Parts: sequence; structure tokens; C-alpha cells
Amino acid sequence: MWHFLTFFLLQYLLGHSSGSRILGVFPHVARSHFMMSETLMKGLAARGHEVVVISHFPQKTQIPNYTDISLVGSMPNFVSTVPLDVIATDSVYTIVTLLAELAVTGCEKTLSHPPVLKLINSKETFDLVITELFNTDCYVGFAYKFQAPFISIVTTPLLPWGYERFANPDNPSYIGNIFLGHSDKMSFLERLVNTIYLKKSQWEYHYWFDLPSQAVARRYFGESLPPLAEFVRNTSLVLVNRHFSLNQPVPNVPSVIEVGGLHVQIPKKLPEDIDKFLNESEHGAIFFSLGSTVRADTFSQQKMAAFLQAFSELPQRILWKWEGSTLPGQPKNIKTAKWLPQVDVLGHPKVRLFLTHGGLMGTMEAVFSGVPMVAIPLFGDQFHNVKNLQDEGIAVKLDHMSVTKEKVLAALREVLSNPSYKENAMAVSRAFRDRPMSPLNTAMFWTEYVIRHRGAPHMRSAALELSWYQYLLLDVIAVLFVITAASLLTLYVIFKKLFHLLVSKPLHSKAEKKKMN
Ligand SMILES: *[C@@H]1O[C@H](CO)[C@@H](O)[C@H](O)[C@H]1NC(C)=O
Ligand SMILES: *[C@@H]1O[C@H](CO)[C@@H](O)[C@H](O)[C@H]1NC(C)=O
Ligand SMILES: *[C@@H]1O[C@H](CO)[C@@H](O)[C@H](O)[C@H]1NC(C)=O
Repeated sequence: MWHFLTFFLLQYLLGHSSGSRILGVFPHVARSHFMMSETLMKGLAARGHEVVVISHFPQKTQIPNYTDISLVGSMPNFVSTVPLDVIATDSVYTIVTLLAELAVTGCEKTLSHPPVLKLINSKETFDLVITELFNTDCYVGFAYKFQAPFISIVTTPLLPWGYERFANPDNPSYIGNIFLGHSDKMSFLERLVNTIYLKKSQWEYHYWFDLPSQAVARRYFGESLPPLAEFVRNTSLVLVNRHFSLNQPVPNVPSVIEVGGLHVQIPKKLPEDIDKFLNESEHGAIFFSLGSTVRADTFSQQKMAAFLQAFSELPQRILWKWEGSTLPGQPKNIKTAKWLPQVDVLGHPKVRLFLTHGGLMGTMEAVFSGVPMVAIPLFGDQFHNVKNLQDEGIAVKLDHMSVTKEKVLAALREVLSNPSYKENAMAVSRAFRDRPMSPLNTAMFWTEYVIRHRGAPHMRSAALELSWYQYLLLDVIAVLFVITAASLLTLYVIFKKLFHLLVSKPLHSKAEKKKMN
């Protein structure tokens, strides 16, 4: 409903903004990342802008004013390809290395892809460039090439290296690193780890991701391309996939815009067979999906058996996004499908629980529909997301490394039988939806705002001009320290003198008096 109401409100507030040319560059290979950008770009096209989108996921049916530059074939994409044992080795290091490599090879493969090269060497013009703020900034080169203002989109809360370019507060005393599973109320040890992680992530990004990407970008956009770390400080604004009702409340400068849940569409009617399967579930249903990146059928046999046995002992029906051919010894209450319309499934009134890997896109969809969760975080920001859900009282966490039938059953039964999870999920859902404008319309408003104000330089924080020690007031603190120390020293000297005058003199004089007597 919010979409319709605020759509008309937006029309009223803005009138029809004239059609602009917008270039969206989203070459990351994971489908879940593209969902958010795609929703925005489609929305902008529907508002009469001419959008050009570079991605691995071209539209299947043509959309007016939406032009794809397809990257299909330039490098393999990530859809349902990543085996679980690769990512679940519990090693953050593996993920960082993988992402760094993906950043640099991705830049090279994308920029050298013939249709992209053609665009780089064209005389086209754009009023705005939108890129994803993730593992590389090499695509801001398009903004440099077309001399256009640019904004970015983040599919998670702001990444550790995403704060500095906007001078957004990143104080690790209470702002949790998205690669750690801390809440915003941290113990001393957690704050210590959180602080080290923030700096570590920023350095890793600079040296492993940014500098190698920059070398690639300069080959395609010219050696005159400014250092990326400096150029990105001219990003007009960033659209962030977080909302304070679900993620931890944090301070944001005006150029950091929360649009959490932008990709979530109003649930539609399900395909007949799925609708029927859910409708006829006497005790409600559980929706099981590990997202678009990993293959659920790469679970070890032991873990598969744990899930299957647990499911067979429940009266609920299970709808399972399963990429394999057949489920071994499939219990009667399970229905599988290679692909499922997730938002629509979660919106079905009979769905009582979402068994998820804790990806932000899926969990936001569940929050939107008020569905409590059992979450099995696997990598990346998932531990952080799941911690937030636990803190809200809407999820139980299941440890992937030690999955047994008993643990699966205990987690599922806890959420199914304790009504507080559903109640909390409904409360968070109400807070998540209660906004002046829908996230999509918020994003479109600010996108057009930047176009209307030619980059909106007035939103730029003055903190961006300060050096780090000025920002942290270290110079001021040093001067205050010196003044205080000098004052104390002066006072000390004065008091010492006074003491001698007032205390030792009378003594002297007494002694002198005695002598005189
Ligand atoms: C496409 O965009 C142009 C402006 O660039 C606009 O005039 C036209 O109406 C749009 N077309 C559609 C079908 O929305
Ligand atoms: C950032 O923008 C300002 C104002 O347009 C410009 O003077 C400056 O050169 C830009 N910085 C970089 C690194 O491109
Ligand atoms: C499922 O139930 C809903 C609500 O009762 C109904 O509108 C819908 O037609 C049913 N779907 C099927 C396939 O029976």
C-alpha cells in the first residue's frame, strides 16, 4: 500500500521531473546484489528517465526506457553456484581474498567487454552515474569519463570502507562491523575487536582492493583518472540497505540515505501449485531457502539427513528452494522447487517460519511480512544480520558447523511454539514499514535531487576537508593539554614559592626570635 500512496505523493511533490539519462554500473556477479539496483533502475525508467544498465542480469522482456548492456559471457556469474563447503570453512580470510580477486578480475573483464569498451569510447552523455559501493571503486571511472555527478548504492549496511568518503561517523564503540556478529552493545573485548576490525578492513580495502582496481581503471579511463580513494570523496550520496528499525540505529550525514528494503515488492499471488500446497498445510508451513548464491544440495550428507529427519518429525509442511534433482527419501510434507518467488511465499498467510542463511535481502523480506526466522549464517554480513534479528527477538540462530537433527528440531520448535517470536516479528514489521516514503520512492527522490542540483555539492560534509588528526581534534587536544599542563606547572611553582614564603619564613622568624631572646 505504501508504494501507491507515496507514489502519488511523490508525483505531487515533484511534478514530473524531466527525463534524464542515467547510467547504472552493477557488474557484481551475485544476483542478490543486483536485485536492489534493478528495482531502483526500473523505478527510474518508469518515471520517464532513460536508463542504461551494465550488469550480468539483462531483462528477459524489454522495458521502455531501460537499456541493458549485458555482461553475460564476460565471466561466470554466481547464481546458485557456490558450493557450501567452500564458503563455510569459517574463514573470513578466504572470503576477503575471494572478493579482492573478484574485484580486480571483475574490473578487467567488465571494462574489456566489447559493449562496455564501446560505451567508454563513445560520445554519449549522462546526467548521473550510479555504481555499487562494494568490493571495488573502479566503475566510478564512468563518472570521470562522462563528467557526470555520481551516487552509489550499498546492498548491506555501510561497509567499513564506505564511511570515510562521506565523513560519516564510524565510531567502533557502538557501530558494529558488518563482518562481525556483535550487537551495538559491546563488551570491552568486543569493542577492542570491533575497532581493530574497522581499521583492518579499511587497510585491506585500500591495499588489496582499491589500488589494484585503480591500476585497471586507469588503463581504460586514462592515466589522468584521479586516485580512486580521492575521487570517491566526491560521491554525491549513497543509498544504504539498512533501516534503524531492524539494523542498529546510527548517526548519518545527510548524504547517507537509508533505503532498507528497497527491493521488497508487495507480495503477489503465488503460482497455483505452491499456493495450494501452502493453503492445505493444516499446521502452517516452513519456507527453507539458503539464498541465490549457494547451492543447498552441496550440504554434506550428514547435514542433509539432519534436516530431512527433523522435517519428517514436524506436522508443518516445508517448502524448500532446492537446486538438486530429487531429494533423497523425500518426506511427504516437503515440496521442493529450483526457484521460488520468495517475497510472495513469505507473504502467504500460512508461512509461519523462514529457515534462512540470514542474507539481508531475504531477512528484510521476512521482516516486511512479519515472519520469524531460524537463521544459519554462513559468511559475509550474515552473522551481523542474524545478531540483529536475535536482538530483536525475531530469530533463533543455528550453527552451520554443528547441525544435528536435534538442534534443527529444537530451533524450529522454539520459534513455532513460543508466540513471542511472531509477536516481535509483527512489531518489527510495523516499525520497518512505517516511513514518510517507501524506500523505493525515497531512493528515487534523492537520485533526482542529485540530478536537479547538479551533484548537490551542498550536502558535502566539511569534515571531508579535514585531515585525520584535525577530525579527531588531536591538535586541539594537544594544545589544550599543553595549556593545562603549563598552567598546572605554573601554579605548582607559584604555590611552592608561596609555601616557602608563608610556612618557612615564620619558622625562620621564630628561630630568629629565639636567638634574639
Ligand atoms: C523515455 O524517456 C524520455 C526522456 O528521455 C521520455 O520523453 C519518454 O517519455 C520516455 N518513454 C517512456 C516510454 O517512458
Ligand atoms: C571533486 O569535486 C570538486 C568540485 O567539483 C573538484 O574541484 C575536485 O577536483 C574533485 N575531486 C576529484 C578528486 O576529482
Ligand atoms: C488459497 O487460499 C486463498 C485464501 O483462502 C484463496 O484465495 C486461493 O484461491 C487458494 N488457492 C488455491 C490454489 O486453492
